[in-house]
Amino acid sequence: MISLSKNYLASIIDLSDKEILALIKHAIESKGNGKNTQQPLKGKTLALMFEKPSTRTRLSFETAMFQLGGNTIYMNSNDLQLSRGESIEDTAKTISLYVDCLVARVYSHETIIQLVQNCKIPVINGLSDLYHPCQILADLMTILEHKKSFDGLSLAWVGDGNNVCNDLLIGCAKMGINVKAAIPEGYEPPQIVLDLVTKEAKSKSSSFDIVREPIDAVKNVDVVVTDTFVSIGNEKDDGKRRSAFLPKFQVNEKLMSNSKDDAIFMHCLPAKRGQEVTSEVIDGKKSVVWDEAENRLHVQKSVLMGLVHG
Ligand code: CP
Ligand code: NVA
Repeated sequence: MISLSKNYLASIIDLSDKEILALIKHAIESKGNGKNTQQPLKGKTLALMFEKPSTRTRLSFETAMFQLGGNTIYMNSNDLQLSRGESIEDTAKTISLYVDCLVARVYSHETIIQLVQNCKIPVINGLSDLYHPCQILADLMTILEHKKSFDGLSLAWVGDGNNVCNDLLIGCAKMGINVKAAIPEGYEPPQIVLDLVTKEAKSKSSSFDIVREPIDAVKNVDVVVTDTFVSIGNEKDDGKRRSAFLPKFQVNEKLMSNSKDDAIFMHCLPAKRGQEVTSEVIDGKKSVVWDEAENRLHVQKSVLMGLVHG
């Protein structure tokens, strides 16, 4: 039985440290137990409202709900009356009449906030321009599986200060993981995130630094993480971004050789091979990207059980 103090998950900020650990530990346990046969969410329905494409988030949530005994309804936002001008408020009220939980993937985080404020059911952020909490729960789970403890761990983020980066920095600070983020000038996370991470890291006596040289972040580190330089919605800046990040911010064998021998490499996927990461690294012996992708399923089952009550 998992119970969460808030009835929504907009960012990893919404979870206490204890709740993060409880969700991860439950997910590790349920992964070990195989498919759940008890169907705790029998008769419950999860709606998925997506403004953007998705492979992992959609598949893992739909499979998670099915394995928990529930049902799902996938809605591309373009197919809703929302696309003809119905308000988010009225859409949220309508969705709440039929289903028990909503996962939304949106462009603007403001949409997640409006959904949370107007839905009478739990709302889960399946990625916005600011945060990706379900991804970060899977990332922390993967780190714990491979490293057994967060104590004394160090993590390097290499690349864009994007949605994944924002929640990852917050999640690591909450777990006391030391972080160095190599991010080019002008692509840092928003100040509100940096302030929160700095405060949280200080309270855990862990460290948090932004550096400009990837090698300074990766040296002797336990975990190396990157993500695309061109997130969904940033396509118009593709050329500008590529020249800001490449070649310096590519995670390749040479950069990875500075990490510890038993370091792990993570990427939320989809990857643009040859840009932020080379195939040698993503397919190499340090890479745990497929565990990370699988863990989306397990951790989301824990989140659904924490938010949707049978
Ligand atoms: N990592 C992740 O959220 O993948 P999708 O965009 O495929 O859902
Ligand atoms: N930062 C990426 C993550 C995709 C899962 C994006 O927003 O497109």
